[in-house]
Amino acid sequence: MKACFVKVPCSLDNFQYLDLPEPILASNQVLVRWHASSLNYHDFAVVAGMKPIAGDIIPMSDGAGEVVAVGSDVKKWAVGNKVMSLFFPDWIDGAATPADIARIPGDSCEGYASERSAVDEHSLTLMPEGFSYTEAATLPCAALTAWRSLFADCKLQFGDKVLVEGSGGFSIFALQFAKAAGATVFATSSSNEKLQRMKALGADELINYKETPEWGQKVYELSGGGVDHALDVGGSTLNQSITACRIGGNVSSIGVLEGVGAEVNLRLMISRQIQIKTVMVGNRRMQEDMVKAINASGLKPVIDSSYKLSDLANAFRYQATGKHFGKIVVEY
Ligand SMILES: NC(=O)c1ccc[n+]([C@@H]2O[C@H](COP(=O)([O-])OP(=O)(O)OC[C@H]3O[C@@H](n4cnc5c(N)ncnc54)[C@H](OP(=O)(O)O)[C@@H]3O)[C@@H](O)[C@H]2O)c1
Repeated sequence: MKACFVKVPCSLDNFQYLDLPEPILASNQVLVRWHASSLNYHDFAVVAGMKPIAGDIIPMSDGAGEVVAVGSDVKKWAVGNKVMSLFFPDWIDGAATPADIARIPGDSCEGYASERSAVDEHSLTLMPEGFSYTEAATLPCAALTAWRSLFADCKLQFGDKVLVEGSGGFSIFALQFAKAAGATVFATSSSNEKLQRMKALGADELINYKETPEWGQKVYELSGGGVDHALDVGGSTLNQSITACRIGGNVSSIGVLEGVGAEVNLRLMISRQIQIKTVMVGNRRMQEDMVKAINASGLKPVIDSSYKLSDLANAFRYQATGKHFGKIVVEY
């Protein structure tokens, strides 16, 4: 079977597209024919060598495909089921234990940039109804993180004010979920053209974070005293996100695109009584809840562009330009 492989030291020049032996199916596993994956910043960090890994690896944490065989002890799945992977294949429900989050596909175990793999029965969910494999492959990391941040952690209410930062995969899902749930959305981007596209998706207020370096204060003013929830993807932008919040607001610390060197303004944080919640994707229960919500809401992912599996390195080169809006996908 065909697979994409990255050799250590990982770099975009160390990709190989090759034939690997067919996976061997254990009794508690299902054989999935993967048809699509999507690029997350986390995958980029692995394949570009920014995040050390143990050895050569099949990358990609997202996968969507069809069950083509089941092990003799498998009860949950049948041939023909359309399934999605989990970012944490062993985190089923509740608060995570270290063991629950020890395996991450395309990082600490083999990922889904291959035509087939044998997957533990408990490590899959159904795809949303009517979704193509390509659409479903955008969900397990970016969409689930947005879903968990807004609904499981922040308990988003109709009429809440939400700040989403940038127009990458995570943030566009956050925008879509927040609007579907009746929120007012404040959106930032480095590009005025992308801001207009965010407006078309329902964003209510638009701020270019390059043109307005003190965008936190701008959001505070535009929102009439601060947003309820700010979803921080910059890391060292944490003080801007805190500044954007109302007294008692929530900051979800999602990413570190601008670096990890944030010196948090504790005085402001305490005087605003801000709650900061760090987030690492989510568990299977959350993914099942998200699928139910997507089925009910009719939400569809925003797909920027599609690449062949054999061209995965170029998909990452494109991601590195930051020109994309929403998700970049790989189809096979
Ligand atoms: N903790 C978790 O569970 C989790 C899960 C998913 C993602 N993340 C993190 O979230 C971040 C985004 O991930 P992704 O997969 O959505 O990446 P992505 O699709 O590659 O999106 C990157 C986008 O982020 C925007 N951006 C860059 N610097 C920014 C800044 N300083 N402020 C605001 N926006 C900025 C840019 O949008 P514009 O071009 O519009 O400026 C860029 O296109 C990454 O740090 C990733 O590690 C974390």
